[in-house]
Amino acid sequence: MSVSRRAFLASLGAGGAGVLAMPLVSDRGREALFAFQSTTGRRADRMAAAAPGIVRIDSNENPNGPGARVLEAMRAAFAEANRYPFKYEEDLRAAIAKTHGIKSENVLLSCGSGELLRVTVQALTNKERALVVGSPTFESSANFAKFLGTPVRAIPVDAKLRLDLAPMADASKGAGLVYVCNPNNPTASVHGKAAVQQFIEQVNKLSPETTVLVDEAYHEYVDDPSYATAVPLAMANPHVIVLRTMSKVFGMAGVRCGYAIGRPETLAKLGPWILDSGVNQLALAGAAVAVADAAHIADEQKKNREAKAFTRKFFEGAGFFVAPSDANFLMVDIKRDVKQFKSDALKKGVAVGRQFPPLNNHLRISVGTMAEMQKATESLKSLLA
Ligand SMILES: Cc1ncc(COP(=O)(O)O)c(C=O)c1O
Repeated sequence: MSVSRRAFLASLGAGGAGVLAMPLVSDRGREALFAFQSTTGRRADRMAAAAPGIVRIDSNENPNGPGARVLEAMRAAFAEANRYPFKYEEDLRAAIAKTHGIKSENVLLSCGSGELLRVTVQALTNKERALVVGSPTFESSANFAKFLGTPVRAIPVDAKLRLDLAPMADASKGAGLVYVCNPNNPTASVHGKAAVQQFIEQVNKLSPETTVLVDEAYHEYVDDPSYATAVPLAMANPHVIVLRTMSKVFGMAGVRCGYAIGRPETLAKLGPWILDSGVNQLALAGAAVAVADAAHIADEQKKNREAKAFTRKFFEGAGFFVAPSDANFLMVDIKRDVKQFKSDALKKGVAVGRQFPPLNNHLRISVGTMAEMQKATESLKSLLA
């Protein structure tokens, strides 16, 4: 990456990274520093969003939180807070296995799916075996790869803001891991069942040792009828892993729980990198109830659909292009720089998504409650005029 000396030195102070900057650069290089700084910058954004009274539509969280039955299960789990959570781990793996029609041995738990995004990079890539990602996409894998010194091949999304699967398959030659975020965060686009299947076949053909990680964090929000989960592919193919999180439709982002689905021999490559018993008792107990609560999931889907339709109508009515969305967020071309807009919106009490280069004029708006979206659109009206 080429950066002027002045810009580089200026950046050392940003986000509280100054103290860490020099050791990080000398130990791991500048790429590691930039990866670290993008994380610290995001933390500052999130702290601003957490101030009292702010409408928080910046992080694709679920505004409704967990359902009553989940909260009850978590409260009950306090009684065993003194015990290591082995039994609860087995219960959750069994509950997840049941919902997917698979076995517990096909499920690996993690502290948020974020832990598995790192672990897959650690276990499956190295300096010779690159990571392939879309651009823009959820950045956790690429940031961690840069931090470790793994080369990252970033393939721009296509004109419809969809992951461009053909060049991603080409770029997979010799790679360790391909990250496919489906639906894609931040562009909200989704690929159908056939496209994902063909993509995996192509990667297998071009690069038989490469693993494809399909991140289905927003699975429950998909309406596109051509879509299907890649779980059956992960069950059949040792070079496919599916990732899920409890942070989105289940409303448990603060509780931290995610999981991978794959064949036992594939998950065995990841297991040694995972923190033992890294998911706490309360998260395990709550998640076991949440994954089985189909009625609650349906209710959440309905709320998201309604508030999303309201928000789309507002932006389209104001003359802005809103990309198709199969997630709990929308990508809107606001025809101006998002960085400035984000800071102006915060002053009006609305925390919106950050800038996702190279889509510098596209704003990511998470879908809050209907009341929040009414308040947010009212507040943003004057800024968009
Ligand atoms: C696509 C995607 N994957 C994974 C995550 C991480 O989720 P968590 O670590 O909360 O499970 C997010 C969070 O926004 C995401 O958008």
